[in-house]
Amino acid sequence: MNNFTFQYPVRQHFGKGCAESAIKEEMNHTGTNVLLAYGGSSLKRTGLYDKIQGWLHECGKNVFDFGGIMPNPTYAMVQEGAKMVRQHNIDFILAVGGGSVIDCCKIVAAQAKLDADIWEMQYANHLFPTEFLPMGAVVTASGTGAEQNNGAVITNTEKKLKQPLVGAYNSFAILDCELTKTVPMKQVVSGAFDTLSHCMETYMGKPMADNISDEINEAVMRNVINNLRAIIADPDNDFARGELMWASAMAENSLLKLGKQTDFQCHMLEHAVAAYTNCNHGQGLAVIHPALYRHMLGEGSEKLARMAERVWNVEGSTTEQTAALGINALEAFIREIGMPTRWAELGITDENVLRAAADTCLLMPGCCKQFSRDELFEVLKECM
Ligand code: NZQ
Ligand code: ZN
Repeated sequence: MNNFTFQYPVRQHFGKGCAESAIKEEMNHTGTNVLLAYGGSSLKRTGLYDKIQGWLHECGKNVFDFGGIMPNPTYAMVQEGAKMVRQHNIDFILAVGGGSVIDCCKIVAAQAKLDADIWEMQYANHLFPTEFLPMGAVVTASGTGAEQNNGAVITNTEKKLKQPLVGAYNSFAILDCELTKTVPMKQVVSGAFDTLSHCMETYMGKPMADNISDEINEAVMRNVINNLRAIIADPDNDFARGELMWASAMAENSLLKLGKQTDFQCHMLEHAVAAYTNCNHGQGLAVIHPALYRHMLGEGSEKLARMAERVWNVEGSTTEQTAALGINALEAFIREIGMPTRWAELGITDENVLRAAADTCLLMPGCCKQFSRDELFEVLKECM
């Protein structure tokens, strides 16, 4: 493994029905003016909005609403949030939602403390924020693990880019699987596949040799596969729902990444496609993964073969063959859980969009293969 120094700032509250007591406990440590951030209609529809408002008022907070954060949150929405923070003298941001709400708030928490434009600061001047408004997350849709880290993925519609920005860590994450019961099954599956993708993207990063982070990772991958099957068979399986929630956290709470450089080339390609199409994150990943891994045979064969044996339980007579069988098993699993394997299933039919995505996608140094933009375009075309 590579050398590392590890410290982790996010307090975790996990468990069915823990949200009320966890929120009330955490509110003992925050200022009075709270920005309650949420997405579209789901929070009010499920009744959680009223409950949280009530709990915050019981704790003596002045609550300001920052609703309407869209899936694939935009940079304009970040700026709107930062404006609200300044306008209302906000002390604390409570992000209630999935990855989109939480990501948007992580950058609001940074932008609110800055005069500089945070996009330009990070991408033009290569400087990163050091001061943040405090925030915490209540997860209502699991999978991204966005509540666990300080990275956020933001869509800059003017620049036609969807890219990562460094933002705030949450001081706490509330993981109450009861809150995810209203998430449509399609999104549950998409979120859980995203978790599996995070595991694979970490596993396939350098160094490739056997190490403890990857061995824990194999267990998390097997867990996601088993519990995803379990929850599709029985959406009321709260045990599986809770396991998926914690697996999502495990994939992004740094533990699997210790001593490694991560790959995340598939993610960067999916984000680039989403900048042009606004496609669903997990579904975009499902389309790209098998094709991209077939292009990684050779450089990545040994590791793909290890994943094939230890996660997918398949074995061929050579390393190359085992690696290829593992990719077939991944693709078969994607079909089994009802996820797309072709762009057309997501309504994406324009080859020019795929060329533009390949041309703007970030190229990842941690990937075992250094892809050219032309080869990434080939990968995307093979998914048409
Ligand atoms: O907007 P509302 O009405 O709330 O509906 C949302 C949204 O339509 C709905 N939803 C959330 N909780 C619900 C619910 N519906 C019913 N009941 C509930 N309890 O779910 C839909 C999807 O929400 P969203 O937050 O967009 O999904 P997800 O959690 O998959 O987040 C996706 C975003 O996270 C980024 C993705 O790129 C994408 O922008 N990611 C962030 C990462 C990070 N920061 O570490 C890592 C990931 O790789 C990912 O890139
Ligand atoms: Zn992801």
